[in-house]
Amino acid sequence: MDKIRIIGGAQLKGSIVIGGAKNAALALMPACLLTDETLNLANLPHLADITTMAHLLAQHGVEMVLNGQAPNGGHTGRVLELNAKTITNTTAPYDLVRKMRASVLVLGPLLARCGEAKVSLPGGCAIGTRPVDLHLKALEQMGAQIEVEGGYIVATVPGKRLKGAHIVFPQVTVGGTENILMAAALADGETIVANAAREPEVCDLAHCLVAMGAKIEGIGTGTLRIQGVERLHGADYSVLPDRIETGTYAVAAAITRGTVELVGARRDLMESVEKVLVECGAKISDTDRGVLVDADGAHLVGVDIMTEPYPGFPTDMQAQLMALLATADGASMVTETIFENRFMHVPELARMGARVNVHGASAIIRGVPRLSGAPVMATDLRASSSLVLAALAAEGETIINRVYHLDRGYERLEAKLAACGANIERIAGDAAAE
Ligand code: UD1
Repeated sequence: MDKIRIIGGAQLKGSIVIGGAKNAALALMPACLLTDETLNLANLPHLADITTMAHLLAQHGVEMVLNGQAPNGGHTGRVLELNAKTITNTTAPYDLVRKMRASVLVLGPLLARCGEAKVSLPGGCAIGTRPVDLHLKALEQMGAQIEVEGGYIVATVPGKRLKGAHIVFPQVTVGGTENILMAAALADGETIVANAAREPEVCDLAHCLVAMGAKIEGIGTGTLRIQGVERLHGADYSVLPDRIETGTYAVAAAITRGTVELVGARRDLMESVEKVLVECGAKISDTDRGVLVDADGAHLVGVDIMTEPYPGFPTDMQAQLMALLATADGASMVTETIFENRFMHVPELARMGARVNVHGASAIIRGVPRLSGAPVMATDLRASSSLVLAALAAEGETIINRVYHLDRGYERLEAKLAACGANIERIAGDAAAE
């Protein structure tokens, strides 16, 4: 397996192009199952998770054509044509679902279009138990009959068509809201979703469904009203920029006390992250092409953060921010409220000299003047990126193992950072050594 080697200490200066949002694309791709016409998705990022979703859709019978690099707002992104004229198979197998939880997003559209679906239960993952009970309860309210057999969710709809329902999510769920949006788009009658997720990626899916002919009100609010239609049609849609990739490179600029322009980034999607970075001591401003993060000569200080559903501070930025706080002056407290067990990066950061104490859902960080390089390894995507960030600021060499986690969510990470002056390279690995 590949590794990444970083020699820390270089101040980043330059520009980084931000790609399409992974989590939006992972919800938009299965939306193609709702129509027999073609859905064209532009600005698609080139990531391992997107390839996994493409494999899953292909085995449901979706035909896909990838149209290389297409100009998009001054930077590049790929265009994928997805056509689900004939759905040949309604089973999402264990082998693909276990690789990626977002595979469960085929459940709502398959049920809505075919009246049946068999999807492997995602099971646990590195950042907690992460059940899908809320997805299933909501689909049952819409008339689906659901059993769990042999590790699979086996769902059928008597009469083939889901019916509208009043769904109140007891807690905000991004994937649950997305599954229900897709299911409700083709259901009989009106569905109301209360306590719906407001994440920009959920709104992106809703806007795409509207472009496909769905009737949805309340997009971007906590209450969605979906009037089911008989059929949806094809559409052309461009994936919004990735706010987590944006935030990660913003932290890269701050942690190296550098200046980086994030080309194609949308500042309105990163307000909570901007607020924290500014409180820490970085400057953030608009440019013609995106957003500038400037920490040249900044004296960074600790801040307290708490993860929350959007528009609060994103859990997917928690690990990266902690790397920054580990080098800021003073103490900080980071509280994780979305996932249990999302401090897997802490022992690895500690190996690099970070001073962090975890008490339940909170971590107290006491900043040190300098981290030091070490061999490290992470167990999930964002934890891995926090180690890259720590390594950029650390003295000496850091080797990051299990790079496949990074490849799930960051396109050409080492090339983008190297172009800004980071001393970073990928070392092709020997599988036997892992
Ligand atoms: C999505 C994102 C992930 C992000 C998360 C929270 C994708 C592909 N992934 O994950 O990167 O970290 O939102 O912003 O978009 N829960 C239940 N039962 C359910 C569903 C969720 O208990 O049926 C719990 C989860 O365990 C978790 C919380 O609700 O504690 C939020 O999860 P959810 O918003 O559903 O996250 P995902 O959609 O899986």
